[in-house]
Amino acid sequence: MGLHPTDLSIHDGDFLAITGPSGAGKSTLMNVIGLLDRPSAGLYMAHGETVDLTDERTILRLRGRLFGFVFQSFHLLPGRSVLDNVEMGMLYSIRSRQERKERAFESLRKVGLAHYTSKDPRQLSGGEKQRVAFARALALEPSVLLCDEPTGNLDSTNSGKVLGLLQELNSSGITVVLITHDQKIAESAKTRVVVRDGRVELNDET
Ligand SMILES: Nc1ncnc2c1ncn2[C@@H]1O[C@H](COP(=O)(O)OP(=O)(O)OP(=O)(O)O)[C@@H](O)[C@H]1O
Ligand SMILES: [Mg+2]
Repeated sequence: MGLHPTDLSIHDGDFLAITGPSGAGKSTLMNVIGLLDRPSAGLYMAHGETVDLTDERTILRLRGRLFGFVFQSFHLLPGRSVLDNVEMGMLYSIRSRQERKERAFESLRKVGLAHYTSKDPRQLSGGEKQRVAFARALALEPSVLLCDEPTGNLDSTNSGKVLGLLQELNSSGITVVLITHDQKIAESAKTRVVVRDGRVELNDET
């Protein structure tokens, strides 16, 4: 299975919600957008320029510069502090340890967890864990945040907080692409697409 031929443009500052049944191809679409998977045909353009999808180095550089990823499960390392966890996301891209630390503090502040830097992730609620995962993604200063069901494991209170954070980040200029099963959350997005059986449809209904 895969995605059917499809055209999708994502504009700077957009808040794009992707919905659709399980197995429809939402994560596949997100992986293609985030340059984790290659489309088997077609063009990939970034900033108006066609990207050579056979050039591994270009893809790595572009992925690192453009995208931050947040998934349903938080992928935090237990036994290490919250600060360490955020710093670890920068190990391969930021050489200076001092800068990694400063960025980690700054992005934890942005997600409202500045006072939790020395905690173990195991001491945090699900919503707080997810905010640490956001901080880890934000520390790399991505233009686009790709979120694959980030509220999927959260209760409604925590999920509301994460959504609030996403809207705040979007207002500050970050482009957000969000896979969600929650119709309410999808309705609050600026742009909506629905994926059904690998087909991507723009949904203009409000
Ligand atoms: N690496 C892979 N190789 C082959 N097929 C895959 C691969 N990953 C996913 N698929 C298949 O592609 C289809 C779309 O999967 P995808 O993970 O994109 O769905 P989804 O919409 O994200 O579903 P969910 O809501 O359950 O996360 C499914 O039929 C799935 O089994
Ligand atoms: Mg999925």
